[in-house]
Formats: sequence, C-alpha cells, structure tokens
Amino acid sequence: MTNTRLTALTLLTAASVTLASCAANVGTPTPPEVSAAATVIPAERFFTADQFTYANYQDVVVKHAALDLDVDFDRKVLDGAVTLQFDRIDPSAETLTLDTKDLMIKSVDLDTDAGWMPADYTLAAADPVLGSALAIDIGDDATQLRISYETSPDAEGLQWLTPAQTAGKEEPYLFSQAQAINARTMLPIQDTPAVRMTYEASLRVPDGLLPLMSASQDGQDANGNWTFEMPQPIPSYLIAIAVGDIGFKAINDTIGVYAEDYILDASAEEFAETPMMEAANTELYGPYRWGRYDLIVLPPSFPFGGMENPRLSFMTPTLIAGDKSLTNVVAHELAHSWSGNLVTNASWRDAWLNEGFTSYVENRVMEALYGEKRAVMEQALGLEDLKRDIADAARPSLTQLKLNDDLTHPDEAFSQVTYVKGQFFLNFLEDRFGRAAFDPFLKSYFNTYAFESITTEDFLAFLDANLRAKNPGAVTDAEIDEWVYGQGLPGTIRNPQSDAFDTVAAASSRWTRGEITAEELPTADWSTHEWLHFLNGLPALSQAQYKALDDAYSLTGTQNAETAFAWYMQTIKGGYAPALPAVEEFLMSVGRGKFIYRLYGALKDNGQAEMANRVFANAKAGYHPIAQRRISDVLGE
Ligand code: BES
Ligand code: ZN
Repeated sequence: MTNTRLTALTLLTAASVTLASCAANVGTPTPPEVSAAATVIPAERFFTADQFTYANYQDVVVKHAALDLDVDFDRKVLDGAVTLQFDRIDPSAETLTLDTKDLMIKSVDLDTDAGWMPADYTLAAADPVLGSALAIDIGDDATQLRISYETSPDAEGLQWLTPAQTAGKEEPYLFSQAQAINARTMLPIQDTPAVRMTYEASLRVPDGLLPLMSASQDGQDANGNWTFEMPQPIPSYLIAIAVGDIGFKAINDTIGVYAEDYILDASAEEFAETPMMEAANTELYGPYRWGRYDLIVLPPSFPFGGMENPRLSFMTPTLIAGDKSLTNVVAHELAHSWSGNLVTNASWRDAWLNEGFTSYVENRVMEALYGEKRAVMEQALGLEDLKRDIADAARPSLTQLKLNDDLTHPDEAFSQVTYVKGQFFLNFLEDRFGRAAFDPFLKSYFNTYAFESITTEDFLAFLDANLRAKNPGAVTDAEIDEWVYGQGLPGTIRNPQSDAFDTVAAASSRWTRGEITAEELPTADWSTHEWLHFLNGLPALSQAQYKALDDAYSLTGTQNAETAFAWYMQTIKGGYAPALPAVEEFLMSVGRGKFIYRLYGALKDNGQAEMANRVFANAKAGYHPIAQRRISDVLGE
C-alpha cells in the first residue's frame, strides 16, 4: 500500500409536487439559459404529496427564512428566532403548518395591519420520525411571522463537539446535517424538498470561532453579528451551519477549503483539482450558478462522505488519503450543484433524481479529467455495490428507482439503488441516444427545471417530449418502465468492461489457487480502485492466506480509509482475528456511516457481537446523533 494518511483522525480523544408557485424562479439571480428549445412539462401535473412532512405547502408556502440565533456552546443549543415570509396558494387558507422536531417554541408573532401581534398556534404530539406539527393561525392577510425558539441539545441534525473531541483541543465545534428530515430539528420550517425558499442569517458565536453557512459568508456587521445570505431558492435540507476553530486556504479565486489547522494544507492539496472539475461540469451542463464553491473538511464524526450544502460542501476527513484517490466524492458533491441543488427531487421517493443523476454526472466529470479507465473502474465498483444492495434489500420495493409510499424513514431511500441504478439508467439512455443527443438533452433539463423541485414523472415526460419524440425507436416504454418502476437489475444494464479489473481478477485467482505467492501479485501499479476490486472480490481464504496478504502489504492499519474498510469487511467475515484491534481503532476514530454501519453489522453477524457492543459503548458519545441511531438499529438495541 502506497497511501499514507497524513494525519491521525480520532473521534474521541482527538479528535408536481412543485406547485407552480414553489417552482417559480423568484429571486434567482441568473436567468435560465436554455441551450436548446425544450418542451416544458407543467410540474403540477405530477403532484404527489411528500409523506415525510406535516407542512400544508399545497395551501401556504414559505418563501424566505431569516434566522437570528445565538450559538450557545454551553447549553448546546441554537437560541433565537426565525422570521418566515409566506405566500398563500389557496387564498382562503388561514393556517400555516410547519415541521418541528425537539424544538422548544417560546412564542409566535404575526405581522398584522395592527403591527406584530401574538399568534394562536398548536404544537402537536411528537411522532418519533416526523416530529411535531406546528399549526399557526395566520389570519387572512398576514405575509410574515416570527417564531422565537431554541433547539434541543439532542437535536439529530446538530453535533456539538467538546474541545477535547476536536483536533485542536482548544475550542468546541458545531456542525449540522439537515438532509433528509433534520432541518426541522434546527428550525421550524416546511421541511420538504418540494418547497424552496431563500434564506438569510445573523449569528452570534463565541469570540475566536468562525461560523459558516450554506450561503454567502458576509462577515461581521457593526454589532459583531455574523451575517449570511442565500439568494437562490433552496429546499430546507440544504440549510447548513458549521462553527469552530476553522481556517481557510484558497485553491483559486472562487474555490477554497475550510478545515481545522491540522488538516488544512493537506485538504487544499487533496482537493487541488476541484477547479478542473467545475470547468468540466460547466462545459457539459452549463454554468455554475451559486457564486463561490468552497469545501469544508469536518471532524471525523461527520457521518457522510460528503454533503452538497450549496456554496459549501461538507466533507469527511477520510477523503484526505494523500494521493487524490478518493476525490470522486468532491466531483459528486460539486455535481449536486446541478443535479439536486438546482433541480431537486420533490419527495424522497424520487431521491434517484438527486443521487442517480449526481452519480452519473460525477462519473462523466471523472472521465473528463482522468480518462475512461478510471471512470469505468468506478462504474464497475458501483455495480458491485449495487448488486450487493439489491441482494440485501429489506423489501423488493426498495430496489425500484421510483420508490413506493411504504418508506418508513427517508433513510430507506438512500441505498445504492438510488445512486448506482439511477446512474446506470442514465448510462442506458446515453448508450441508446448517443452522447451527441444525450449531453445537450441533460444540459437543457438542468436549465429548464433550474430552481424547481420535480418528480420522476416530470423527468419522464420531459424525456418523452425532448428526446424520445425525436428518436422514436431508441427505447421502448417497456424498457423505461423496467428501469424506473421495476425491481432488481434491469436486463438492459450496461456492463462496464474494465481490462484493469480483469487483470486484477486473473491475478487474484492465480494467487488463491496457489500458483503465485502473495508477494508475486502484480500490485506495484495498482491504484486504490484496483485494490478495492481485489479486496471486494476475495473468496473466503484460509487463515494462512489472510496472514500472507497482510504480511506482504500491511493491510491491517492501512491509512486509506476505503482500502482499510474493504480489508476489514473481508477479515471479519473470514474470522482473521489479528485485524480486530485495528478494526476497533478504526471504529473509534472514524464516524463515516458508509464504513461503520456495515462494520458493526459484519461483527454482529460473524461471531463478534460482544466486541461490536463493547466498541459501540465506547465510541457512541463521539458519533454523530444520526450514526448513533443507525448503529443502535444495526445492533438491535
Ligand atoms: N446527499 C448525500 C448525502 C446524504 C444522503 C445525506 C442522504 C443525508 C441523507 C451526498 O451527496 C452523498 O451522496 N454522499 C456520498 C458520497 C458519494 C460519492 C456517493 C457519501 O456520503 O458517501
Ligand atoms: Zn449525493
């Protein structure tokens, strides 16, 4: 293994829904630039309600939120007020219903003809997933209200780290994760991707700490408040905040990296090619519409690889491998600036419109920058994961692109089906129509639905009108239906042919058959991708074989988090005990869900339930609330 981790990461010690009005481009600075004359399908034709919100957004819709908050590290709460501006879709509507979860509502005031007046409201009993509906009497002509509130120290969308839990050890740290339905633990809001709003914020934080949001960072005003503005309408799940002892390093004039000092230089180096990614994306799909693009490398307890908060992607430090081998995650989060943030899934049942499109765009950008060989390897690795997730799906309906209304939590919408099956559906369309037609079609899709929230059916209608109508024989209705509404792996899925992976697989077989020794495996020029293919494809080995591999390549304790994870999954399944102390260290130092949920599951399923429970008990306090909940589920607590 050639990768060196530059810095130790430690958690504990260191530490149609679219109603016409929701869809309006109000406040959009850049006018849509439509590359070809596209046929627009009115989104309200495909209205389906979002089952994960209490908001009555079909009647009254929030257009703007102005936050005014103290970030209180002593009490671990956000404390202050939000002013909401709203439009009445139904002119007779006199109630605005918002989502809240674990919020303390202190008062609600309405801006009336007679000035600001206390409003009548009711806060419903809490549902464990959805939280509590806040129904406010808005009379018949008010257009804004103000809610004083504070969050709970246990808010699932916020992780409050003590100084001891940070790398710098001196200052506390806060970061949010609103997707999918945790914005409601940060503020009372219509917490559905069907609703888009602009926002602004004024924050007070302790001296010496830097607050950042998914917005323009406008600095401190005369009163010392930190101010932010997001002038483009976004869904609530993209509202984000991070506060800490955070430094900044520019990559170019419009792109830079924020991080704690220990990892700032390494992060700027790892992500140095982000400007080329933005250029490739723009070349394919039109202008980047959000102003600056910055990245923040969060503490290791960040539960995702990346999160596409607009203007400021949130990233896990496990990407800082030292060799740029994991930067497809940057390509992914940046790609969301088109797929997801610009054109948004209107409900979590349509999540593939965000994640499948983004996985496709990510891979196109990786191909543009690094060539077909790497892009195809990444497709092949994705397909391996997709096959596993289809085989492991809790219910067959979870293997559909358009998901049913049987979801119990939006988490269920984010398997590799949504990502990779979605990506391969677009690859299928690309193969059938050809890039010469498909690339301009996608560009026109992003422009046509810019700043709107749409359903799968909106996309299919746009596909019919703008691509299929012009190329009637290219795909059949039955093929499209199989991809979108069918279960499992479609018969027409592309087979990514990687010669590099074939070579790896051939060498692997020669080794497992005893024809060559572990040292004789041709690993000298293997990239991280080839290592991952090798490790993921290993059959059950003898203890001597695990040891031979480990001795030859020091896999246990390797510093590339992806390779370490792949190796640990195999060794747990194969009962190779010498790796277990390193697995424990990994679980104590990394909070990224993609790795740790499956490691805990594998331990539990392979005779190590006791270890899993013991390590979780020790690591839990350092994990993000989202990860705590997910691992409790895995371990059946
Ligand atoms: N938007 C997701 C992260 C997410 C999904 C947060 C669902 C909350 C609920 C983000 O864009 C993402 O997909 N991240 C991936 C990386 C990607 C390369 C597949 C991750 O975190 O691993
Ligand atoms: Zn994504």
